Amino acid sequence: DWVMGGYIEEAVQKIREQVGDEEVILGLSGGVDSSVAAALIHRAIGDQLTCVFVDHGLLRLNEGDMVMDMFEGKLHAKVIRVDASELFLGQLTGVTDPEKKRKIIGGLFVDVFKAEAEKLKASGQGHKGATFLAQGTIYPDVVESGGTKTKKATTIKSHHNVGGLPEQLGLKLLEPLRELFKDEVRELGVALGLPPEMVYRHPFPGPGLGVRILGEVKKDYADLLRRADAIFIEELRNWKDEATGKTWYDLTSQAFTVFLPVKSVGVMGDGRTYDYVVALRAVQTSDFMTADWAELPYGLLKKVSGRIINEVRGINRVTYDVSSKPPATIEWE
Ligand code: XMP
Repeated sequence: DWVMGGYIEEAVQKIREQVGDEEVILGLSGGVDSSVAAALIHRAIGDQLTCVFVDHGLLRLNEGDMVMDMFEGKLHAKVIRVDASELFLGQLTGVTDPEKKRKIIGGLFVDVFKAEAEKLKASGQGHKGATFLAQGTIYPDVVESGGTKTKKATTIKSHHNVGGLPEQLGLKLLEPLRELFKDEVRELGVALGLPPEMVYRHPFPGPGLGVRILGEVKKDYADLLRRADAIFIEELRNWKDEATGKTWYDLTSQAFTVFLPVKSVGVMGDGRTYDYVVALRAVQTSDFMTADWAELPYGLLKKVSGRIINEVRGINRVTYDVSSKPPATIEWE
């Protein structure tokens, strides 16, 4: 709209003034904030921006390809995709403790990003190499880091908005979303041409499927979980609530599938199966500090469970999580 159009123009001018003819690196995660920051900065300075997309192998089905499709394919931005899945999965072998898993994933993420940034800084795709690090920091992050933080809040953004990283890399900071609230970031994203499905996505944790596979993370588990979760999300997007006309995806704040590394008995044809269990989780919340489990229609649950069990060989049981927060958390780890 007109207001956003004016805002974009102003923001673009500001970025151009700040950056001049220098170069910028940005860690793209596929999340809303880094995506909108990338789109805005690209609008302002085009090829002076290089995005680094670290794929830790714990993303959702086709997520990496979708990010590349959008930023490289449609926006024609420079994106370096680093496939680090083997590194991450290797380091996670044998690790079951949730906080240890988070630490490993977060630490490796920073290492991989830093290595790429160092390369870009040194090589200089243009003349000087990168001198700016862009981050998708938004206003609530700024407020949060000024005052008291919960333990989790400290780690939540730590992958992509890394405190201290600009100094360590000797880069100046570029944070064009610093004054915006989440809703404004989303509107800006749509105005910049990002697809609404991307901009209005549920939040996805930095450690990704790493905290949605209980206990040890294995590639086979991640592959099963990705397929089951894609079915759940697809059906949530398909099912409309009659009363509001909204989809169940939009009526929930966060919804996902959790992989349980236990086997249960099932029956298929003449034979018995002995396969894995998944849990569906869907919550409604305004602040993610407290949350209610969503009263999804039985028809939707039935469809999802039927499809997962029929389509994902290796999973023979689907459960629905009816725990609210507190005392349960939204994630299972
Ligand atoms: P819990 O499970 O504590 O989650 O009720 C509250 C919100 O925080 C998200 N979350 C994370 N996000 N890194 C993130 O980036 C994390 O380690 C992490 N742990 C939880 C969770 O998805 C929910 O939106």
